[in-house]
Amino acid sequence: MIKLTEKYIKIDTTKNTLLLEKYGDRVLQLYYGKKLHDSDNYGFFAVEERDKWFGSNDDHTNIPTVFSCNGECANKEAYVILSKEDGTFTSRFEFKGAEMAEGFSSPLPTARNKGETVRLCFTDLVTGATVYQYYTVFEDCACITVHSEVVNNSGEQLFVKRLMSCQLDFAAEKASVTTYDGTWDLERLRHDTELTAGRFEIDSKLGISSANHNPFFMVKTDNTVMGFNLVWSGNHKETVEISPYERMRILTGLNDYGFNYKLNAGETFVSPEAVFVAADTEGEVSREMHKFSLKHVVNPNFAYKPRPVLINNWEATYFDFTGDKIYEIAKKAKECGIEMMVLDDGWFGARNNDRAGLGDWYDNVEKTGGLKSLSDKIHELGLKFGLWVEPEMIQVDSDLYRAHPEYAMQIPGLTPIERRHQLCVDMCNPELRQYLTDTLIKLFKDLGVDYVKWDHNRAMSDVYSSCEAYQGNYFYDYYVNQYKMLKDITEAVPDVLFESCASGGSRYDLGMQYFMPQNWCSDNTNAFARLFIQEGTLAGYPVSSLGAHVPNHWERPGVSWESRFNVSAMGAFGYECDITSVDRKTISVIKKQVAYFKKHRNVFQYVEYYRLGESLCKSDLGGWSFVSEDKKEAIAVIIDKKVNNFWFKRPRFTFAGLNPDYLYKVEMRPQSNLPESKVFSFTAYGDALMNGKLDFDNLYWHETDGHDMGSVFASRMFYIKKIGR
Ligand code: GLA
Repeated sequence: MIKLTEKYIKIDTTKNTLLLEKYGDRVLQLYYGKKLHDSDNYGFFAVEERDKWFGSNDDHTNIPTVFSCNGECANKEAYVILSKEDGTFTSRFEFKGAEMAEGFSSPLPTARNKGETVRLCFTDLVTGATVYQYYTVFEDCACITVHSEVVNNSGEQLFVKRLMSCQLDFAAEKASVTTYDGTWDLERLRHDTELTAGRFEIDSKLGISSANHNPFFMVKTDNTVMGFNLVWSGNHKETVEISPYERMRILTGLNDYGFNYKLNAGETFVSPEAVFVAADTEGEVSREMHKFSLKHVVNPNFAYKPRPVLINNWEATYFDFTGDKIYEIAKKAKECGIEMMVLDDGWFGARNNDRAGLGDWYDNVEKTGGLKSLSDKIHELGLKFGLWVEPEMIQVDSDLYRAHPEYAMQIPGLTPIERRHQLCVDMCNPELRQYLTDTLIKLFKDLGVDYVKWDHNRAMSDVYSSCEAYQGNYFYDYYVNQYKMLKDITEAVPDVLFESCASGGSRYDLGMQYFMPQNWCSDNTNAFARLFIQEGTLAGYPVSSLGAHVPNHWERPGVSWESRFNVSAMGAFGYECDITSVDRKTISVIKKQVAYFKKHRNVFQYVEYYRLGESLCKSDLGGWSFVSEDKKEAIAVIIDKKVNNFWFKRPRFTFAGLNPDYLYKVEMRPQSNLPESKVFSFTAYGDALMNGKLDFDNLYWHETDGHDMGSVFASRMFYIKKIGR
């Protein structure tokens, strides 16, 4: 709920309050944290900061505020920077008032099912532009969203050099920042950085949100943990700055690198929506972010819909397959209880390796034997059928490029840089967009696909569009147009489930989740590496979004099929192996795993996530638990990677997220590599399970498929069910 009084703007969510004060031509940020009672007077907050003048050679804008600009004699990063044609880059913004708004419009995806929105208005005495800042709350979650728009009512042309989405200021002399950074194949690994003085920054300059730095991050100060994210898939920047006057500023939003948005008179520029939340623990931040994603970002048709167990042929065949081979995999998958066959890269044009074909989205009949009949045969087996595409790419060796070289993103007169032998398309070209939209909709409808894996396998270079009047707009306009296309396509085939992918998980963000409920987490399907990748991903994104598959290669020696399952069995679960070439014993293992997953599907997909103990990046013992909202059911996975100590130290674990007053039955999932005597169950109250150290014997015994102790980690899975109270 949002309350406006003459003096205050009080933005309340289910758990938090953001309290602002109208203070002359400024807006003070008095408080952000746990929810506060309403009161007539909050004068006790930040009084000192309001009036104190510091050394005249210093940063003098120490008042905490949600809005800042260039030209304030400030040594902190600004929220907005505008410039005029003559190069003027300072502004003098004045706060003009706040009012409740009947929503807002944006060319970008923004949260669905909004609650109230308040609009703050600032006008610039230098350029004459107006900036509106919008804060929105939601009835069912603790998150607040915020973004801004610049309206160019100056009568002349302006440039938006920067427009961030969220600014929060605090009194703080230190803070710690947790970011999720990595590379292809090792995405979203947790990093913790202690800050004392200076500026900490992560960003993406690659044209995608990137595996290098995810836009989700957390900041810890005093007893509060705050989480931030963006509903945006392009270049982003996150700044946490501590000034020598012990003030902390947090800024998130669009990266101003490679960005200089030309705004003609009368035009409006809208920044992506930021989302933030404050909580007592990291876990609570994650759960609130998950709730926000499922209730306000993901397409409601899919948000809580059971997701099929799939098999994908990529790691089984790469480009080397025929339609018959795919059908063989599908038949075997059906026998194992798997519900969907996904045909990955290589089915179209001249795509027999990664050097040709992107752009030619038509069936390579010679290879597939006819996709339509393959799709029909797979459907007749009782399986769903999924297809891989990479529409934002084109290859020089393709019919599309030969006919339309202008569809590629490239600078006139220069040979563009190829990555993975491919070029990005120029998404700002309306003719290309229409071509892709029509072609893909027809393809998906003709084949009756149930699922699409939408890939994006390279970062952007040669950023240029012959269709853009001004190139400084391009990084932003790319996504305005890409989102438009995604909207048109997903609305035309509303029953098709989309999974976003970008060389694994290089575009895992809320902008993509708005259109595609699932996200391929990483090309690294090695179960040991996935411990860290998936933990990092779950910090900000819901389990039902997380694509995790059991592989049959990529494994360090010793990781059993059972541990691969224990690690992969998450929301968007499947297999990525040549199921036709595994032995009979393994097929029987897979059958049992699939049956187990399907039996407990709801507890794997639509649940609250609790990390068990410390992060696995910091500790040898850990795991995760998925708990139903009513606390009646849970799945817990325990992990021991203390490989050097397996002889003599018994691991001890504590469960989380249960109801202390419920009596639970805890049942270990039977594993083919464990003798019956090692599979046990017991009953205990939630309080004991959550407070005591539970002894699970030595997990390493029998861990590998060869029943020896040669694995790099050991795992067990438990189903926990309420049986009384
Ligand atoms: C990317 C994806 C893989 C696979 C290949 C196909 O790397 O992450 O899963 O689809 O492309 O080329």
